[in-house]
Amino acid sequence: MILSSLLFILNVLFAAPSYTQTFQQTNYGYTGKYSLQSGTGPYPPDSTSLSFDVHLRSKSCVHIKIFDPSHTSYEIPDTIQQPDPAISASNPDYDITFENNGIQVKRKGSSATIFDSSCQSRAFVFAKQFIQIATTTSQDPIIHGLGERRTEFALKVPQNITVFNQDNLTPRDENLYGHHPFMIDVQPDGSCHGILFFNAYPLEVELNNGFISFRSMGGSLDFYIFTGPTIKDITQQYTDLVGKPCLVPQWSFGFHNCRWGYPSLASVQDAMERYHKANLPIDVMWFDIDYMDEKRLFTTNPTLYPPAEMKAFLEKEKAEYGVYSVSIVDPGVKIDTNYETYTSLLETGLYINESDGWTPLEGNVWPGPVIFPDFTNPAVQSWWTRQFDKFLGTVPFDGIWNDMNEIANFCNGYCDDTRQKQTFPWQSVDIYKKQIPPESMLSTGPYISSRAFYANQENIRTVDALKSLRPGLRPFVLTRSSFVGAGRVNVKWLGDDSGTYQDMKDSIAGVITSGLFGIPYTGADIGGFLFSGSPELLIRWTEMATFLYPFFRVHSCESIPAHELFRFGEPYVSISRKYLHLRQTLQSYWYTLHHVSHDTGVPMVRSLSMEFPTDAAVRRIDTQAMLGSALLVSPALAEHQREVEAYVPEGRWFDFFRYDEVKVGQPRTAKFQCELDEVVVLLRGGEVMTIQEQHNHSITFMKDTPLTVLAALNEKNEASGCVTVDDGLGDQICTTTVQFTATQSRVQFVVKNNDFKTDQTVKHITVLGLAGKKVSSVTTQPLDQNITFLFDEKRGVLDIFHTGKGWRLDEDRLFSF
Ligand code: NOJ
Repeated sequence: MILSSLLFILNVLFAAPSYTQTFQQTNYGYTGKYSLQSGTGPYPPDSTSLSFDVHLRSKSCVHIKIFDPSHTSYEIPDTIQQPDPAISASNPDYDITFENNGIQVKRKGSSATIFDSSCQSRAFVFAKQFIQIATTTSQDPIIHGLGERRTEFALKVPQNITVFNQDNLTPRDENLYGHHPFMIDVQPDGSCHGILFFNAYPLEVELNNGFISFRSMGGSLDFYIFTGPTIKDITQQYTDLVGKPCLVPQWSFGFHNCRWGYPSLASVQDAMERYHKANLPIDVMWFDIDYMDEKRLFTTNPTLYPPAEMKAFLEKEKAEYGVYSVSIVDPGVKIDTNYETYTSLLETGLYINESDGWTPLEGNVWPGPVIFPDFTNPAVQSWWTRQFDKFLGTVPFDGIWNDMNEIANFCNGYCDDTRQKQTFPWQSVDIYKKQIPPESMLSTGPYISSRAFYANQENIRTVDALKSLRPGLRPFVLTRSSFVGAGRVNVKWLGDDSGTYQDMKDSIAGVITSGLFGIPYTGADIGGFLFSGSPELLIRWTEMATFLYPFFRVHSCESIPAHELFRFGEPYVSISRKYLHLRQTLQSYWYTLHHVSHDTGVPMVRSLSMEFPTDAAVRRIDTQAMLGSALLVSPALAEHQREVEAYVPEGRWFDFFRYDEVKVGQPRTAKFQCELDEVVVLLRGGEVMTIQEQHNHSITFMKDTPLTVLAALNEKNEASGCVTVDDGLGDQICTTTVQFTATQSRVQFVVKNNDFKTDQTVKHITVLGLAGKKVSSVTTQPLDQNITFLFDEKRGVLDIFHTGKGWRLDEDRLFSF
């Protein structure tokens, strides 16, 4: 902040650099040059000659790159999924102009400006270690994205946002683990555009009324601009570029238990037993660093966590209860000559070096002094795979949790304090704090240019290791640090939060913002990782997470008391059970949405603004969110709160639990009762979703149980939706998708694709919104006598039942009433 103010003053004092622009058309768009005419930036020498390219990539995406050809350029690997095309997109929905020595992207039709590099609010500067450009925005703009941070969904303006992935404990509004310089700008008329500043150096984005300025410690001014015009469109366009979200195994949509501070396998077994005894479903048990031998990765403590016993425990739990397991892995390899992981890494030479390029860079993490594998070097793959091979051969964990990969270091730079720190003309953040030195060397360049994507590279190597060791199985790899495109490979959680309602509330923005980054599978540590909250907080958090966290995990730090869901007696245990069962009720809907996000990039959990783009009243809302397009979730976010005031957008709505129609007048806010065991969830008219009525120990044991098709009619008395099923585990994805439609007189199933052979059936259909109608018979085509129905005329609820096994998913079917 202080540095930025200084920068502002310097900008005023110096005669800003002035460049002249020339350009010419090419078959992919335009190319051109900037020549420095006069002036100087705050950190000279300024580049005297710059080149630029404008690629009209697709109908809705343009790539603008301004660079100094005389600077060394470090490539960012494995991120952009399709190279810039050789020819320009035909009929793009934007125009490019070159006015006032700048480049403009204008929306075709309205000619509204969505990017304008001639904006003078901040000087255009291009020096070796400082680059800066500004563009225009509206006054009082609504901006989303620019992570990772714990904050509101609509970012505060004015504000300078540091993008620098860092293990930065709890502060709100500060940079955290992910480096995502991607933003969505919502204009006053509701039209939105997206801007990716594709730069991996520590950087800063200044949000202001009327302009936005991007500045970085190096690299190029590299922008991908997406025309939207809705937020939903942008998520599709962005993930076309950086990759669609990966599919994870279905068990990972269940309930996860984790704690740092289980001193022995016996204590893990005890926790597991208590879940079972309390009849609380559990799908995944996590193993934090407690199990390691002297915190050395890929080892187990021989007395406290004997590997043979661990293996037997994991196998038994999976067979009897369908419980899977995930193990933590950190990047720091303990320096220990009696430790094979270290000695073999040394032999490969594939670790991060000091700036000389050959001395192993030493950091300090949980095991003490460590070195770090250079995951940016593809050659490290075989060593990393070998490590997993040995480890998983001993203890067959199902998933991997890549933690501390920012890279977190307990030394600020070198562990030897007498070593000189490099100085930089400009930085928006202390780049030595809990970091390895910026000049350390990786295969992709110095750490300062590569640090942002180090974790992505670790995750790519981990997924590849799991794929080669377990061919046919879908990997589950969860990361703390992330960069652009992470969601294509792995999933993520929101890091170390606290047991406060503020953190619980902020996590809603965290999840919906992560969805914008193409990492829809995420969630925060339920109950808070640092600092304990009350049992009521834990319950409220669990209720909310049932509906709004794809990643549904309780976790706590060793320094606070444990808060597993069995721990606090009644009424908390019964309420927890109710919500763990509800999670199972919702399973096929969660998983169908997961497939939608994998296919399209549209996240499972969405802001109201994503679903209601024309409603100006929802644009800043982040205390409520949508699960898919069907469920509006309005959680209680304070201790003792028993009533929620919720905004209910235009349309027809039903209470998701009671099935009554909910009428809301103008203004569209209403108060809802919300006892401790209740969360306010409304089902949107026009939607068909599936639910499941049978519960079991785990998702694995209930995922194929019969479906109930739940249809809620809208004002036009129509509804539609679908279900997608597969085996939930394999990496050769064969799915079956059935489309459902409903009206006042019929429900129809149409099989869209039928590649996954399943015996799963539909046994029950519920249609809401039939008040005033008479139903005296229900028939089905093809004919089937195993059918009964109940009709509650007053409430307009029709229930149709199959009296046998149910209707198959591979057959088109029509119900008439
Ligand atoms: C930091 C992680 O954020 C936390 O979840 C984990 O428990 C600790 N590291 C210990 O491994």
